[in-house]
Amino acid sequence: MIIDILTLFPEAFSALDTSIIARAKGSGKVQINLINIRDFSTDKHKKCDDTPFGGGAGMLMTAQPIYDAIMSVKRENSKIIFPSPSGKTFSVSKAKELSTYEHIIVICGHYEGIDQRILDLFQPEEISIGDYVLTGGELPAMVIIDSTLRFVEGVIKKESLDEESFSTGMLEYPQYTRPQNFKGLEVPFVLTNGNHAEIKKWQKQKALEKTIVNRPDLLDKK
Ligand code: ADE
Repeated sequence: MIIDILTLFPEAFSALDTSIIARAKGSGKVQINLINIRDFSTDKHKKCDDTPFGGGAGMLMTAQPIYDAIMSVKRENSKIIFPSPSGKTFSVSKAKELSTYEHIIVICGHYEGIDQRILDLFQPEEISIGDYVLTGGELPAMVIIDSTLRFVEGVIKKESLDEESFSTGMLEYPQYTRPQNFKGLEVPFVLTNGNHAEIKKWQKQKALEKTIVNRPDLLDKK
């Protein structure tokens, strides 16, 4: 998979150079290119923002540099996404879907947003990561990319995906590792006695209890 990220702040993406995503990049499972929108500005001061017509607070990103940045990477099969609080809410099923594309272009807005004509011309899929507003699309882009890459073959073990929250329709059960006693708290006995049927039953029960407390809405969906 190739991901082209169009942004005014490429340095914000250093988080993708750590841990599992860095390994996925290193092994060639994904190529992530950072494209600085400012490099495409035809303005003599490389300006990329302006005040909105009709008034309103803040600045908008102008269409020209974004248009030219998109055209520099766009292919016939590109999936274009635009992180935005006005989009449909991101979910594990969207992450799975995105993981099937060969080429994704992510447009990162900043300030008050981008000129509507970019959305009209390219019809990117607008994706929100939740009902709150961030200062730019860079953090949401990283959230969407991280979550999507987990479903790209070979990035993480398939069993990890099957067991985690949302894949089962419930939140994940509590987990423990060594030592068996930490500050007086013991690992539940059932997890240590090797009875796999009992362990599965315990995990299912704990997952259900956690889901009832934290996300009862998930149970209504089943
Ligand atoms: N840009 C700013 N806020 C956002 C959000 N909640 N989701 C996606 N993109 C955003």
